[in-house]
Amino acid sequence: MRRALVAGNWKMNGTTESIQQLLDGLVTGCQAGNSEVLVCPPSIYLAQVASRLATTDITWGAQNVSQHASGAYTGEVSPAMLVDLGCQYVIVGHSERRALYAESDVLVAEKFSAALAAGVKPILCVGETLEEREQGATLDVIQRQLQAVVSYAGIADFADAVVAYEPVWAIGTGKTATAEQAQEVHQAIRAQLAEADSGIAAGCRIVYGGSVNAGNAAELFAKPDVDGGLVGGASLKANEFITICQAAGEEQTV
Ligand code: 13P
Repeated sequence: MRRALVAGNWKMNGTTESIQQLLDGLVTGCQAGNSEVLVCPPSIYLAQVASRLATTDITWGAQNVSQHASGAYTGEVSPAMLVDLGCQYVIVGHSERRALYAESDVLVAEKFSAALAAGVKPILCVGETLEEREQGATLDVIQRQLQAVVSYAGIADFADAVVAYEPVWAIGTGKTATAEQAQEVHQAIRAQLAEADSGIAAGCRIVYGGSVNAGNAAELFAKPDVDGGLVGGASLKANEFITICQAAGEEQTV
């Protein structure tokens, strides 16, 4: 049984005040349910989030991490610092970091391993651009991005990792992959993991991201290989995010 995960990626949004309001809304509205609920604020607000959520069932994580353990890396945040602030998860390889900060498959793999070595679970994002989809290259792109991490880290590391399928063309665009499109890719991801280890593949959560909202979440989460969501814009609104979490809680994946 895979427990569904709904993660809010707040990206570079929020102030001390707006985050406090959002957290208050989430704490009030989130019932301890079947799904795991996670928020990923900007790192500078992690201490605030940790303090507000410490006695709740909601967990928190980061949006990025350094591949290095410590030292002269101005502006970076180490895996151990995330552990220090109680982070259970960190997003690695988000398409915005791949595209805007030139993060390569190898760098993403290094971050994935560094996070796990410190005790933080990576949420590995993979996804194709619109151009790649139109060329029919979707599954090739996903396979390359995933294989880079499997080869570098080893399949055993996926026992404590999450994979997020985030088609680039669906991020922040209001265009969602259909439930069928998502299922096709999620199934391919699981099959690829299964080639290395079927037990780990069966247990690994694969979540969908890309314009998930209160209206489309239930249909997406109903697919057998969609184990929850990585939610951007809709995670900034407490009520909408709670509705998405409820949709995941009702969908027990097997
Ligand atoms: P949106 O939900 O805003 O499309 O963002 C998705 C995303 O990038 C989550 O990591």
